[in-house]
Amino acid sequence: MTLKTRPLSNAVGTEILGFDMAAPVSDEMIEELKQHWAETGLLLFKNQKLTPEQQIAFARRFGPSAPTPGVTRYLLDGYPELFVIANRDAEGNLLETRETARQWHSDHSFKIKPSTGSLLYCRKMPPVGGNTMYANMNQAYDALSDGMKELIENLMAVHDVDNVKDMKNRAPRTPEERASTPPIAHRMVITHPVTGRKALYVSEMFTDYIEGMTKEESATILNYLFQHSVRPEFTYRHQWDIDDVLMWDNRVVMHFAPRDYDPNDPAPDNWRYMLRATIDPWDDENAFPEQEYSYKVTLG
Ligand code: SIN
Repeated sequence: MTLKTRPLSNAVGTEILGFDMAAPVSDEMIEELKQHWAETGLLLFKNQKLTPEQQIAFARRFGPSAPTPGVTRYLLDGYPELFVIANRDAEGNLLETRETARQWHSDHSFKIKPSTGSLLYCRKMPPVGGNTMYANMNQAYDALSDGMKELIENLMAVHDVDNVKDMKNRAPRTPEERASTPPIAHRMVITHPVTGRKALYVSEMFTDYIEGMTKEESATILNYLFQHSVRPEFTYRHQWDIDDVLMWDNRVVMHFAPRDYDPNDPAPDNWRYMLRATIDPWDDENAFPEQEYSYKVTLG
């Protein structure tokens, strides 16, 4: 059976029409979804009614659940596979994750084995704002000059959780949480194993510096790449409806949640509540072909 689809935008994404993620889904259909996922970086499923078990089970068709390192206190009670991203709880208490994703990034790029994707389920949304943006890193790579492509082709960049700028709403990470996420060097250009397309793999949130260069030298190149990769023509901005599910491929897109509503506003309907299942590669999957060069960085 062939899925009914339509493009979400020129740059990113495919909407999967008339699909029930809670119903039995054949392996053939999962393979078809994986192809759209790899080609356009983002899948939208509207009007989904999922229990936590169903969300986790669907995500597991694409890979094992990724533990969210260093932030275990943000996981859904009874469901450690689900990361709660919300401005408040049901009683109106503000939550630490209300400023999540305020910089562009690819999920878990700070791990030696980064996550392939994420599946984000919208349970509550304020009347305006609360959007999520996506940037196509294949297109960003393709649009670079040959000179820049040659320069970065074999360079390694260091990714580090402690590079995240907006940690002010969060309790400091414990020494154990810090120790669980040492800085990791990855190739700056990666190749998607399904499409064979190259993508830029650096982000303002997690990428700290380029190996072999000073931080100042790195900043010049990295800041250019951060700005270049999110040029409007490479992006899509999603305005969420409750019960939308978006599933992105971290090897194709970066994402970002603009602060386009006030997460601290106590109005009862000002409630953004999302559940994210994060997907790791299977043990035998060659999900990031350049990952054979990745390594833990020893701090001097
Ligand atoms: C995320 O980075 O997974 C969260 C994105 C969002 O809350 O819009």
